[in-house]
Amino acid sequence: MTIHFIGAGPGAPDLLTLRGRDLIASSPVCLYAGSLVPEQLLEHCPAGARIINTAPLSLDEIIAEMRSAHAAGLDVARLHSGDLSVWSAMGEQLRRLRELAIPYAITPGVPSFAAAAATLGQELTLPGVAQSVVLTRTPGRASAMPDGETLANFARTGATLAIHLSIHNLAQVVEALVPFYGADCPVAIVWRASWPDERVVRGRLSTVASQVDDAMQRTALILVGPVLDSEDFQESSLYAVGYDRRFRPQSADSPFAGTAPGDERADKRHEP
Ligand SMILES: C[S@@+](CC[C@H](N)C(=O)[O-])C[C@H]1O[C@@H](n2cnc3c(N)ncnc32)[C@H](O)[C@@H]1O
Repeated sequence: MTIHFIGAGPGAPDLLTLRGRDLIASSPVCLYAGSLVPEQLLEHCPAGARIINTAPLSLDEIIAEMRSAHAAGLDVARLHSGDLSVWSAMGEQLRRLRELAIPYAITPGVPSFAAAAATLGQELTLPGVAQSVVLTRTPGRASAMPDGETLANFARTGATLAIHLSIHNLAQVVEALVPFYGADCPVAIVWRASWPDERVVRGRLSTVASQVDDAMQRTALILVGPVLDSEDFQESSLYAVGYDRRFRPQSADSPFAGTAPGDERADKRHEP
């Protein structure tokens, strides 16, 4: 018996891993975070499955469901939106399960920032422009930010920012970022990426607050950084003609000549 934590993806029901789908199909109990997990995923549950929306439940009640499934020897599919590694409340469930010695496993999902980038048709890291993406949020009613994790501190790096759980704080986000990125810095807001009613707003730090309407609440990502409208970035070395690498040694003297396929160590230092 195992509690299977499964990343349910950003919204589109076919943005679920095959492993996730198969685990849902083989688990007689399914607990899903109803606020963001698409109901179509529940169609993978086996006939007669016990299916529970955990949105109105407390942590104690959720763990009670897991305990009774464990006592009955029944696998559980536990669905959270996007990927489980960020803002899923999985950590507190795992801690309780460890205390109770109930086995669990984790199957990752497509995170919303990746779905938003796909919607925008953009890479979030471009050579010479940005090589880091910061996944962050602003403080919420129930969640303060640890000291040091301020937008200003992240902005100082110039990295691409993917700001979650913050569309209601858009004015404060803009105010915090303008001193670092400049009023002309591009911004994209993707609301309900991959859902049928998905919407995109592209603007600048100086304009975006007036471009968003009241309908774009809650499930939105704010992406900020020069990558969003860079066209004059360098090409990566990886595919450059003449770049010496394991898969394309440039001469018989190359340190990569004759490197056995599958030896990942040989050109680690030379990756893009
Ligand atoms: C509780 S967090 C869940 C994050 C999720 N675990 C992930 O991997 O993206 C909810 C926040 O994620 C973002 N989010 C989740 N799904 C989204 C989507 N389909 N489109 C845009 N933003 C989304 C929003 O910022 C939302 O406020």
